[in-house]
Amino acid sequence: MPVEDYDDCWLRYEPVEDEELSNAYRRHCTHAYVSEGAPELGAVREELRRGLGGLLGREPHLWQHPPRSVDGFLAIGLPDEMRPISESVDPDEVRGLHDEGYLIRSVEWEGSDCTVLTAPRDRGLVYGTFHLLRLMATGEPIIDLDVVEEPANETRMINHWDDPFRGSVERGYAGRTLFDWERLPDLKERYYDYARLLASVGINGVSVNNVNTKIPGREGANEVVSGQAGWQLLESENLEKVAALASVFRQYGIKTYLSVNYASPMLIGGLETADPLDPAVEEWWAGKAEEVYDRIPDFGGFVVKADSEGQTGPYDYDRDHAEGANVIARALAPHGGRVWWRAFVYSEHEDRAVQAYETFEPLDGEFHENVTVQIKNGPIDFQPREPVSTLFGAMPETAMGCELQITGEYTGQGVHACYLVPQWKEVLEFDTDGNGSPVKDVLGGTEGQGIAGVGVVGDDPNWFGHHLAGANLYGYGRLCWDPDLDSETVTDEWIRQSFGDDPTTVETVSEILLDSWEASIDYHTGGIGLMHMMYNGEAALENHYDPSPGEWPEYHVADGEGIGIDRTSEGSGYVEQYREPVAERYASPEDCPEELLLFFHRLPWEHELADGTTVIQRLYDNCFAGVEEVRRLHDRWSSLEGDIDDRRHRHVAERFDEHVLQAERWRDTLVTFFHEHSGVADERGRVPLD
Ligand code: GCU
Repeated sequence: MPVEDYDDCWLRYEPVEDEELSNAYRRHCTHAYVSEGAPELGAVREELRRGLGGLLGREPHLWQHPPRSVDGFLAIGLPDEMRPISESVDPDEVRGLHDEGYLIRSVEWEGSDCTVLTAPRDRGLVYGTFHLLRLMATGEPIIDLDVVEEPANETRMINHWDDPFRGSVERGYAGRTLFDWERLPDLKERYYDYARLLASVGINGVSVNNVNTKIPGREGANEVVSGQAGWQLLESENLEKVAALASVFRQYGIKTYLSVNYASPMLIGGLETADPLDPAVEEWWAGKAEEVYDRIPDFGGFVVKADSEGQTGPYDYDRDHAEGANVIARALAPHGGRVWWRAFVYSEHEDRAVQAYETFEPLDGEFHENVTVQIKNGPIDFQPREPVSTLFGAMPETAMGCELQITGEYTGQGVHACYLVPQWKEVLEFDTDGNGSPVKDVLGGTEGQGIAGVGVVGDDPNWFGHHLAGANLYGYGRLCWDPDLDSETVTDEWIRQSFGDDPTTVETVSEILLDSWEASIDYHTGGIGLMHMMYNGEAALENHYDPSPGEWPEYHVADGEGIGIDRTSEGSGYVEQYREPVAERYASPEDCPEELLLFFHRLPWEHELADGTTVIQRLYDNCFAGVEEVRRLHDRWSSLEGDIDDRRHRHVAERFDEHVLQAERWRDTLVTFFHEHSGVADERGRVPLD
């Protein structure tokens, strides 16, 4: 396999400098008795070699039986596989855990200290191994462990928006796709390292191709998108390539999924229709599913973008989305597969926010059990801040998936530092009925639920295009596993594993990450509920990076009178889709949280906010404050010169220089636009600009 040079990210396993800690780790981990057999155990051994080899300067001694005459060893296996485990942990306790859970416990066995790592299934052993290594890489003690972990979400998936064969990544800012479709089924070492990164944070699903599987038949489609050929992966000759990738992911407990085109029965099967109620279509999907499972027995299922942005769907045949999804679900059901059916549908409504709920809520209970409705966190499209989608909590009879965007399409792409964990926490903690039903619980617990995140990696040597964007993938996985983790803990873990434990570095990087999202909201939107003010451009694959508030008047409706959209019952009515008391709170301009105000209300420029400041003045102040904050974060990063290796320091510093300039561009464009419409000058004398 060719050797490529790329970052280890948070799996650097730098030597533990603290001698006492390092000695303690050695005593417990130099000898490891690891069971054999399942493919996942190869991954466990490999990680122990790399991890302990790096952290402790010496690879562990791997035993095939309990090590003799050593005091302190690690035992890794299923409960019944090895005596040190079956004799020190109650097997029923382990069997009672979630399929992907694990247990790590310090015990004494035949007079020796033993760290037991066990799980009901082999996959849990992989997660447990990464957990143990993370403890050491972050300087935590391991002498008295009693860890019991289970994932909160059943599926924790990455949706790659990679365009096979053409090699580009839609909304990807880190080079080209990792997956070399021309050369597959030949494998690359890097696929294994990608799987390691994902498994280390608990990801258990990867959909390998773009949800746009074919050139949209929309106006403006041109050569920029003409490479969207993901639908071809379902062709027999290409399934071999998918199977090869799946063989890598499998070792790390990750299931492989495919995005499929709704018209596949026509495109691949040569049928004349893709009508979901046509028996030939039903038969075609069933046959295709069988073929896929013949090659990939643990295949996860299909992700579908239908009737959206030029992709075909059941509406082409006057069928609804449940009928549309169910035909594919029936094909996958005998094999244990699942359809992830996206709710990202908008078209006929003037206010696109209302569409997804109107389309899907009436279909609650109509979807087959193995359909998950995959809902973007907000009603628009991954804007810096959106209210939470009204669909969460509104479809109790349907398995739900939350879709988050890990890649920074609207938050500065590969240039701006924008850490999204605080955004995701806000979404997951949002109380859907004011009665203690946060999104994380509404999602949790039911079969087939989970979280899908739009992928962020490419073939860039640092994987992400921006070193700090690695924290987003890390945090995404950790929150999918445990949404109760707080942002600070997740951030701290990532920094220590990526940059070491120098207190100044940890504190500074943490501050930069945790403060970056609010700054981004301020200069991208003015911070009180506006959004979608970016440049689109001529190309079908829109820019979404530069400011252009005049281009999308319907998203803010600025004129001489005021700004914002009335989404109350007097306006588009979107607010009524929320449950009480949320609907009532948002419907009132007084009670609506200020950060969402102009999303729900159209207000005069000089409307006074709670503290007496006017809407226009707050927009000015926030735009300026956002830039000041980016400057401050830039300077905080500069202060780390010498504390972080030059290569990574320079990389981020260069992007921060550009980030400041771009934030200024946004500020200047927005405040000028607000001024032109309102005619009101900034009371602090900054607008109009000189
Ligand atoms: C956004 C994004 C598109 C993407 C779409 C989706 O509109 O700009 O690139 O295809 O979301 O989620 O399907």
